[in-house]
Amino acid sequence: MARQRLSDRVAAARAERAARLALRRRREVEAREGARVLVDGRQLLSFCSNDYLGLGQHLDVVAALQEAAAWHGLGSTGSPAVSGHHGEHAAFEREMAQWLGYPRALLLGSGYLANLAVLQSLLREGDVCVQDKLNHACLIDGARLSGAELKRYPHLDVEAALRQLMSRRDGAAILATDGVFSMDGDSAPLADLALVARAQGATLFVDDAHGIGVLGPDGRGSVAAAGLGPREVPLLLLPLGKAFGGQGAVLLGPEDLVGHVAETARPYLYSTAPAPAMAAAMRASLRLIRGQAWRRAKLASLVARFRRGAAALGLPLQESFTPIQPLLLGENRRALEVAAALEERGYLVAAIRPPTVPEGQARLRITLSVDHSEADVDGLLAALAEAVKPPTRPVTI
Ligand SMILES: Cc1ncc(COP(=O)(O)O)c(C=O)c1O
Repeated sequence: MARQRLSDRVAAARAERAARLALRRRREVEAREGARVLVDGRQLLSFCSNDYLGLGQHLDVVAALQEAAAWHGLGSTGSPAVSGHHGEHAAFEREMAQWLGYPRALLLGSGYLANLAVLQSLLREGDVCVQDKLNHACLIDGARLSGAELKRYPHLDVEAALRQLMSRRDGAAILATDGVFSMDGDSAPLADLALVARAQGATLFVDDAHGIGVLGPDGRGSVAAAGLGPREVPLLLLPLGKAFGGQGAVLLGPEDLVGHVAETARPYLYSTAPAPAMAAAMRASLRLIRGQAWRRAKLASLVARFRRGAAALGLPLQESFTPIQPLLLGENRRALEVAAALEERGYLVAAIRPPTVPEGQARLRITLSVDHSEADVDGLLAALAEAVKPPTRPVTI
């Protein structure tokens, strides 16, 4: 058999993606002030950022980063087990563990990396990892990397999760779910999943990337919002690129499991530790999350305003009460057309297409932020009323 040329292969794959209107293009953000962004030379109002609480540009957070960088330099100088674990990391880990009532916390470089690390180090061949079908890609990839059997149950279907756990009684089991689903904005039925996990001797692992800071008392996320804690949800992952406005992820759990990840997870051990200054900035974010409840109240009122307005316009809203408000449009072409029509009117909302979402479920993933005003939300609704009408011009991407 003749050897394939990689460039032929990628050209064919790209042509196939182009035919499906599935090409992806990066937009260049030249400047940002809150939700106002300068993108490819145009001033737009963004409704697709994950900076839900508006902390990414908060003076305290930026000052903490600058000050720590001035003292310690930028890079961490090595992987955590060599020279990269810094006092700033340790202080942030202690504060996170204390805030959420877990015995131990571990700071990792990103949410994606953290999910690979957790599942790869805790599971092995002969184990089972049961997951919601709409879990984030990194949970799925982590289970694949672990060698455990991956079983995916229909979205939010607790009984199916139970059946899948019951069908494999040997080996260890992790039941893993997003707290808030990243492309749908709805919440996992955590109380019921906790019961199932307990009954089946499985460990419940929640990735609360989109719930932490936003939901629950004190912003403690989906787990606290469901009235649960470390007993019911032994493993909790909190990516910091959303409401914390930074970068990295914190794993929380019992000493033994988190310690095992710290000592054995390849994505943790063989990667440079995050910048100490980022950990310092995340400590400042944590103080604001805990101390400024008005941010959550404002966000909730913007979400309610958007939902009222969208319902009045007859827009196809999803069952989401979080800042993620997807507008399901179906085909890729339709999602791209509506996104382009919004952009003409000054709004940046990315069209999300497969494989990020299932086939035929392309959508606009609208996200709200404390950086928006009520007038901004009303403006978006007025633009949507126009943009969702049938298109007058063909779309280009
Ligand atoms: C649920 C969920 N987990 C993990 C991640 C990945 O986190 P990070 O961006 O820090 O890699 C994301 C999105 O980015 C997410 O939505």
